Amino acid sequence: MVAQEAHPVEERIVQLIRRLGIEEAHVAAYLPGDWGGLLERHSSAVRSLTLICPRGLKTEVLRPHAGRLLIVSGDGGNAVADLARAVDDLPGATVTMLRDYFSPMWADVMADRSGEVQSAMLEFLSLREKESPLAPVQLPEGEGEEAGISYTIRGSGPPLLLFPLGLAASQWEPLLPVLSERYTTLTLGGPYLGMVAFLETRGPGYLRVVRSVVEEVGLEPGQRVLEVGCGAGTVARWLARYTEKRNPIVGADINSYLLREAGRLAASEGLGDVIEWQSGNGEELPFADRGFDATMAFTVMEEGDADAMLAQCARVTRPGGKVAVIVRSLDMPWWVNLPLRPDLKHKAQTGYGDVVQGGCADASLYERMERAGLEDVVMLPQWATYGSGERLQQQQERMAARLTPEEVAEWRDAIAAAGKRFFVSQPFHSAVGTVGAGFEPARAPSAGSGSRA
Ligand SMILES: C[S@@+](CC[C@H](N)C(=O)[O-])C[C@H]1O[C@@H](n2cnc3c(N)ncnc32)[C@H](O)[C@@H]1O
Repeated sequence: MVAQEAHPVEERIVQLIRRLGIEEAHVAAYLPGDWGGLLERHSSAVRSLTLICPRGLKTEVLRPHAGRLLIVSGDGGNAVADLARAVDDLPGATVTMLRDYFSPMWADVMADRSGEVQSAMLEFLSLREKESPLAPVQLPEGEGEEAGISYTIRGSGPPLLLFPLGLAASQWEPLLPVLSERYTTLTLGGPYLGMVAFLETRGPGYLRVVRSVVEEVGLEPGQRVLEVGCGAGTVARWLARYTEKRNPIVGADINSYLLREAGRLAASEGLGDVIEWQSGNGEELPFADRGFDATMAFTVMEEGDADAMLAQCARVTRPGGKVAVIVRSLDMPWWVNLPLRPDLKHKAQTGYGDVVQGGCADASLYERMERAGLEDVVMLPQWATYGSGERLQQQQERMAARLTPEEVAEWRDAIAAAGKRFFVSQPFHSAVGTVGAGFEPARAPSAGSGSRA
């Protein structure tokens, strides 16, 4: 697990840019964990801030800097109502809404709407440069690492820090040629930033949910496990430790940025020999029929065609083997352990997360597993509880962002009164099914069509 407390992200970033001789830079980011501390504690290092499809806007932190803030977002999905409220609270900010665009955390916005994002960013940055130009920096192109932050330098001109973009498959790649014509772009990565850090902060609360599903699977030493949609490898690394490296694990994902980070993290934790990372789409897995003893897909089926993924999971698992799935549950509210008024409680507890058409984020999981031909489906609705640490902090801020100033005061008083009894719990549906002896795979794409990360 990646520990943040000892050396906060903003101190790592400042250490990196100072090392490169940069005093001040334009910044473009997604998650508040990346930009929040930088703006709060080192605002003089941030010439302008561009937020792409942001979540959890800290308006009290942003308000003093609204004149140098650009927000670019889609206009669809659950987060848009929160965004609209935040924007009302940020007079002076520049806002570009991408029409008819659903931008959940896995949206590949730079690939899907590159022209609009590019125009919005270039115009905004050039206005900031006209107001007061930033000194260009001369840095050799290439890669490096400082304070646990990896960076890739491209182009020349004033410095522009590009933080990771959620679960987007292309990250900044589609815009880099144009941005680096005018700016020295530093594309940042590593375990302390973006979704890698965010997925890790689900920590013990989420891993308890994972553990109960894995216990239900009942792995024997030596059995081969596939994790579909492995992301940064949080679960695969946990599983390697849980099984004491006795089970070969393959982690597959469509996102090459996350696979790269997963590989680095596993190697740094001495787990490189037990987990293999492979590029692969869960809707058309690049593996032969019946090659795994257990196939797992955890918080992935919200993001694609769940039935196709289930069919593929069943296909690549041997008869008698297990398919285990966890999805976020949009059909159950979160739980906040505070004695709030019912309307306030409802406001804080509902409406988080998104699901694509054809995706699964509700109790239809159980029926879908049966329809996919899985037998003896064990159904396990569960809660991940966050009682301390960063994820509690993040969720608490996300909840408070929905409330009026009076409600926020009530909310904060309730938290203070609850003391250590304050926690929030996130609901999940999970299930484990068995591939029957007579199971016939629906279709079998040729094995080996993916590539190693
Ligand atoms: C929320 S993350 C979960 C990561 C990991 N399973 C965990 O629990 O920490 C979802 C992951 O699913 C991946 N994903 C989404 N659609 C996919 C697909 N069709 N095939 C493979 N991976 C996919 C994303 O790239 C992302 O890494």
